[in-house]
Amino acid sequence: MKSGRVSHTALKVGLIMIALYEKQEWKLRLPQGLAALTERLILAAGVFGYGRRMLNLNKKPWALRLYERSESKMGIFDGVGERKLFMDEQVLAAIEAGAKQVLVLGAGFDTLCLRLAPQFPHVKFFEVDHPATSAAKAKGVRQEGQPQNMHLLAADLTEIPLSELMNKTERWDSGVRSVVVAEGLFIYLKEEAVLQVFREVAACTGPGTRVAFSHGISIKEYRFENAMMRLIGEPWLSSCKNADLPGYIGPGWSVIAIHGPSSRRSLEAFAVAEKR
Ligand SMILES: C[S@@+](CC[C@H](N)C(=O)[O-])C[C@H]1O[C@@H](n2cnc3c(N)ncnc32)[C@H](O)[C@@H]1O
Repeated sequence: MKSGRVSHTALKVGLIMIALYEKQEWKLRLPQGLAALTERLILAAGVFGYGRRMLNLNKKPWALRLYERSESKMGIFDGVGERKLFMDEQVLAAIEAGAKQVLVLGAGFDTLCLRLAPQFPHVKFFEVDHPATSAAKAKGVRQEGQPQNMHLLAADLTEIPLSELMNKTERWDSGVRSVVVAEGLFIYLKEEAVLQVFREVAACTGPGTRVAFSHGISIKEYRFENAMMRLIGEPWLSSCKNADLPGYIGPGWSVIAIHGPSSRRSLEAFAVAEKR
């Protein structure tokens, strides 16, 4: 993606979460405060076109109808809500199982670290994103009051090896069990880059580390939509069927959970891999 500007897809995921909260069933299912916090983070980022007016339009009934259309075509509305719940559940389960560090890759305007860091003071939380997106997120995090156990790192994961980035991060401990989240990220990376992320995570984490991730299933079925993504500079670059996950993530990892695809039209499915 173009590195000099804030990720449109990260903003879009934020808008989806805010709109989803307008649906009664999701109001009950989403973690408390998630939608309002996302809204504050996007406003604080100060990105042109993503002000209060846009956020209000985003919740109108006609906007929700457009989102519903995108749900029926590609599973991108309720599907994103399911993805958020999946990642939350996997992080909580990993902490319960002993993870002492949470690392969210390509964090965008996600709220997981901000919400969970105060609840788990003995766990360290880290987010990595492209410099422009990370800087925009940092404004909102400062405004919310950055938890002492939460750290933001700015880097392009295709340019700097993750283990190099983490090993020079003073508070990161490469020997302890961790949980890494890659939500809505791998579809934007080429297959080789996904393999590299898994190799790099293995190189900077302790035994029993898990990666909770989403992945495209068959991007070639969405040629028109992907042409649109290319226009905004964030094309989908890789996908893989559930059965092919071992080759997609590479050696040294076991797939321990698979979720979805929830329908034949879903763009993504989710999974958890554990370090062997
Ligand atoms: C679709 S957004 C998902 C954001 C967030 N994970 C969520 O689901 O709310 C993709 C995110 O990955 C980040 N990203 C994409 N390629 C990246 C790279 N090479 N290095 C670091 N971040 C990257 C983008 O900046 C963006 O924030």
